[in-house]
This record gives sequence, structure tokens and C-alpha cells, in this order.
Amino acid sequence: MNILQINGSARLTGSNSTRVADAITARLRTLHPDASFALRDLGREPHPVLDEAALTALFTPAGQRTPEQRARVALDDVLIAQLHAADVVVLGVPMYNFGVSVQIKSWIDAIVRAGETFRYGASGPEGLVAGKKVYVGLARGGIYRDTPGDSQVPYLRGILGLLGMTDVEFIYAEGVKMGPEREAAAFEEAAAQIAAAVV
Ligand SMILES: Cc1cc2nc3c(=O)[nH]c(=O)nc-3n(C[C@H](O)[C@H](O)[C@H](O)COP(=O)(O)O)c2cc1C
Repeated sequence: MNILQINGSARLTGSNSTRVADAITARLRTLHPDASFALRDLGREPHPVLDEAALTALFTPAGQRTPEQRARVALDDVLIAQLHAADVVVLGVPMYNFGVSVQIKSWIDAIVRAGETFRYGASGPEGLVAGKKVYVGLARGGIYRDTPGDSQVPYLRGILGLLGMTDVEFIYAEGVKMGPEREAAAFEEAAAQIAAAVV
């Protein structure tokens, strides 16, 4: 079994979403001691944003790319290969300004590639990244779970589902900016969710 953990916080230390993701991975590794483990910390090793140069590189046929374009596409290829190699994916996702961090968005922009991770068929898009279990560790300053204010979970369900990743469990650490008691409770609740969901 191959576990891939993606840390999406901008913080290099003290990240709450990384704390939740680490707890998910720790339980997985306890249950599956022989599992291999790969980590991509997007705060420490940022992935470039999808800009004009990247789009041009991606839409240029492989044989016609410049060395710079090949190098840019290769950065995305690494993330796609890591994803394909994983059986279980653990994402640490902070809430910044009601959305996912730019780190997570850049990872998503890298892995969503027509012909590689999904394709358009006669009946619409078809995911090519099937058979994976995904755990998403969420950290939020406020509380949004199961409310219309939660813009992250519907987005992540949708984009992961496009690629065929439909077996997704969300672990919530919410209210981490609502005082020390609520913060402590958030991690206790996340730990209980992990114990119930990671089996
Ligand atoms: C730039 C920034 C924007 C934030 N925006 C929100 C927000 O829109 N809603 C919210 O509930 N918390 C917000 N927070 C609080 C974070 O969700 C909280 O600090 C969480 O721990 C972030 O995850 P991290 O510690 O892994 O970076 C924000 C924090 C930062 C630094």
C-alpha cells in the first residue's frame, strides 16, 4: 500500500491542517506498518501557479516544446505520477479567505490534465484516477461544516470526483481561531473522526 500525503498550508511550522493530515497518516501507518509513504509539503516545496507560460507549455505538443516548456510540464508530471502511484491520498487543506490555499489550488491545477487524469467521453468527463481512498484534513478558523458557507467541501468533492476519486472522507478541525477551548475541542473532535473513519 502506498500512502501519499499532500500538505497544503502556507505555514512551515504550526500548521493546523498539517497537524490533522499528520494524524490521519499516523493512524494509517499504525494500521498498515508495511505501507510506503511519500510526502509533498507544498509550503516547503511550492508548486508554480498555472500562468500563461505554463498553459502554453501544456498545450504545445510534447515533441515541439522548448526545454523550458518541457521542464515546466515535467513539474506537473511529477505530481501526476505521485498521485497515480498512491493507493491512499491524505490532503491537508487550510481554509484561507473562504477557499483552499493557493498551494492546494496549484496542486489541483497540476493534477487535473485531460487525457492523463480524466478524459471526455461521449457521456461527459470520465475519471482516470480510480480506486483510491482519499482523506482530507481540514482546518478552519470558524465553523462551516454542513452549511452553505462551506465552499471547500463541495469544491473538493467535485474536482476529486472529476478525476474518479469518489471515496473521500473529510476530517474537520473547525473553530481553531475561536479561543483556546474551542481550538482544543476541534482537535479532539478531529481525532474522534479519524478513529471512526480510518479503519
Ligand atoms: C490568510 C488567512 C485567511 C484565512 N481565512 C479564513 C476564512 O476565510 N475562514 C476561516 O474560518 N478561517 C480563516 N483563516 C483561519 C485558518 O483557517 C486557520 O488559521 C487554519 O489553521 C489554517 O490552516 P493552517 O494552520 O494549516 O495554515 C484564515 C487564515 C489565514 C492565515
